[in-house]
Amino acid sequence: MFSLKNDFPEYYRFHGRKITKKISPTSLNLLKKYYDKFSLDKEIIRYHQQNRFNQKLFFSKKKFNKINVEIGFGDGEFLLNEAVVNPSELYIGVEVYLNGISKVLQAIIKLGLKNVLLCNLNCIYFLTSVKSKSIDKIYIINPDPWNKKRHNKRRLLSYENIKLLNNLIKTKSCIYITTDSKIYFEDIKKQIYVNDAELYKECEMRILSTYDKLYGVSKYQRKAIEIKGKIYLISL
Ligand SMILES: C[S@@+](CC[C@H](N)C(=O)[O-])C[C@H]1O[C@@H](n2cnc3c(N)ncnc32)[C@H](O)[C@@H]1O
Repeated sequence: MFSLKNDFPEYYRFHGRKITKKISPTSLNLLKKYYDKFSLDKEIIRYHQQNRFNQKLFFSKKKFNKINVEIGFGDGEFLLNEAVVNPSELYIGVEVYLNGISKVLQAIIKLGLKNVLLCNLNCIYFLTSVKSKSIDKIYIINPDPWNKKRHNKRRLLSYENIKLLNNLIKTKSCIYITTDSKIYFEDIKKQIYVNDAELYKECEMRILSTYDKLYGVSKYQRKAIEIKGKIYLISL
């Protein structure tokens, strides 16, 4: 992993927190020892390096009934819970935050999970290297809202990226985006409406009730709920 990071730093870059908590020596050892076994980084970088003559990544359904992806999984709570409950489904977690990768890796090993794969690259490289219509469900739980106007362009959910997500799913209405930012929610709605009125009509957009399966499932969601925030859902 670390040699890939040194050789191809651009794949790991993103507009995010510049200072992340220092990684502990134990986590570092764990990453060195096990990450490559569960990682898609090498295959994705290889795909992009070979000028796209290479075949796109495809996850065989021989072993798993469904292929699910979570982008920006943070500490991995939702990803891991889903993977434990549905052992016959594959869960691919994409996260640039190395401490998050290390936490999930620790749990994978402790619980002996056989249905989780990880990617530490900027998710754009993942989204552009996977075969069209090969993913069953995609989850993006409370992406960074970047509410300051000068930071708006850093938002993950631009219309361009929404198109990339849409291209990957097999059937409609299987992309689930939640946010506690009304501003971000309205921005995503607007981008879809302005660029694709047909898609807009098919989207589900609402405030999650406390009974919803996706309510309170992550650290960032619960932070918002604690201060009486609402959780908005866009499903497309
Ligand atoms: C606000 S946090 C939410 C984390 C978690 N989903 C939760 O709700 O607790 C957003 C996460 O997305 C990750 N992220 C941001 N941009 C990313 C990118 N381009 N590729 C992969 N992960 C990204 C960040 O590192 C961060 O962990």
